[in-house]
Amino acid sequence: MTPALADDLKHLDAVLRRAADQATAILASLDVRPVAVAPTAPVTEDLGETGAGFAAALERFNARFAAGFSASAGPRYLGFVTGGATPAALAGDWLTSAWDQNPTSGLDSAAPDLERETLACLRSLFGLTDAHSGAFVTGATMANFVGLALGREWAGDQLGVRVSEHGAAALGPVRILSGAPHSSVYKAASMLGLGRSAVVPIPVLPEREAVDVAALEAGLAALNGAPCIVVANAGTVNTVDFDDLRAIAALRERNPFWLHVDAAFGAFAAVLPEHAARVSGLDLADSICIDAHKWLNVPYDAAMQFTRRPDLQLRIFMNSAAYLGDAGERPDFVHLTPENSRRLRALPTWFALRAYGRAGVREIVRSCCAHAAGLGRRIAGSDRFRLLAPVRMNVVCFTLRDVPPGPAGETEVQDFVRRVRDSGELFITSTVYQGHWGLRAAFSNWRTTEADVVRAWNALEAAAPR
Ligand SMILES: Cc1ncc(COP(=O)(O)O)c(C=O)c1O
Repeated sequence: MTPALADDLKHLDAVLRRAADQATAILASLDVRPVAVAPTAPVTEDLGETGAGFAAALERFNARFAAGFSASAGPRYLGFVTGGATPAALAGDWLTSAWDQNPTSGLDSAAPDLERETLACLRSLFGLTDAHSGAFVTGATMANFVGLALGREWAGDQLGVRVSEHGAAALGPVRILSGAPHSSVYKAASMLGLGRSAVVPIPVLPEREAVDVAALEAGLAALNGAPCIVVANAGTVNTVDFDDLRAIAALRERNPFWLHVDAAFGAFAAVLPEHAARVSGLDLADSICIDAHKWLNVPYDAAMQFTRRPDLQLRIFMNSAAYLGDAGERPDFVHLTPENSRRLRALPTWFALRAYGRAGVREIVRSCCAHAAGLGRRIAGSDRFRLLAPVRMNVVCFTLRDVPPGPAGETEVQDFVRRVRDSGELFITSTVYQGHWGLRAAFSNWRTTEADVVRAWNALEAAAPR
């Protein structure tokens, strides 16, 4: 052991307390520190031969990086779809590191059982039955990846090809039909050897991002029985629109396909009686993607994938090795997801669910929707902005009044995003919606209050062109 490591071990308590003090100070400053900062590339420092221990490393970090980090854990960071971390989730995350379990094997620890229990609680939260089993992955992109891998394996079965044995090339083209797929679906298609061009966009309903089910049916018929994957969307990233999951699932009677639902954050509609109908039929999916690091407000990184076909999952992700043993009746997680080794990322979610229950989740989702509606009303009543879509749940999709349609709007929108960011009061991101450059304000943080909405609105007004 080097002297620095030996010293940190000797003073482990002080090391952890110092980190906890700093964490508390960071979280206490979320209201006053800039919500986002323009990144400036720091000069890269050399590794150096000897280290000076944690306290010195912390000083270096504070001097070089801390001020340049965003307040993305805070209440006015409305870019992308970004959750924060509730106290129990954050503490659970620390304990995850302290325990440092690798839950992929069930040989030596109850950690996989904790993951299974967490997944069962989540199933119940989202109205899924026991027919779905699942696992934790890093994010919705990986949950979509696993879902599409399952669909690919299923398509192989329809044609008598074992893709997991003989590869995607043996299968030939498999189409992925979807109305308004998230970009991660294209990425997953690329990673799976299906190729981005496998994704076939299907027309959406007028003024909507929900797929036109009749057009989907026509798209399926055009494949003449070739097995394919349909990605249904439950909560699109721009306007939180929902496909009609029941109607889509019913199409399988005439044209069998693998139904994957990307419900990265839209699945949380299930917890609110006033929105639950939007995800009616979710349980009919063959595979489902849901994020935890968005609306569940657990720290990065965590998402869940669910499927009705663990047998296919086992075929794809089976990791045979003499020292790992047989997969057996209840396969270890090592045989179910891309990773062989990983952290127990179910633990922060377990803590969040136990600490705050269904009511806690419901309250976060409900208040985010109320804040989005509040901002939406201000925008609708303003002469400087206009809504690009109705506010359905937690995302406000809007633009500046004079932004022209088409690519000409890009400069004005991007300049506005930077002005808002540089105000330090708010962070939102740009988008293109139905050919229009626009803006998205996504509410998914448990800390956001009405006072934050007022501050956000003031920042938008101040940055808008006169
Ligand atoms: C609908 C949808 N699917 C997938 C993703 C990808 O999520 P992640 O960044 O967790 O991989 C997102 C991210 O915003 C999303 O909104």
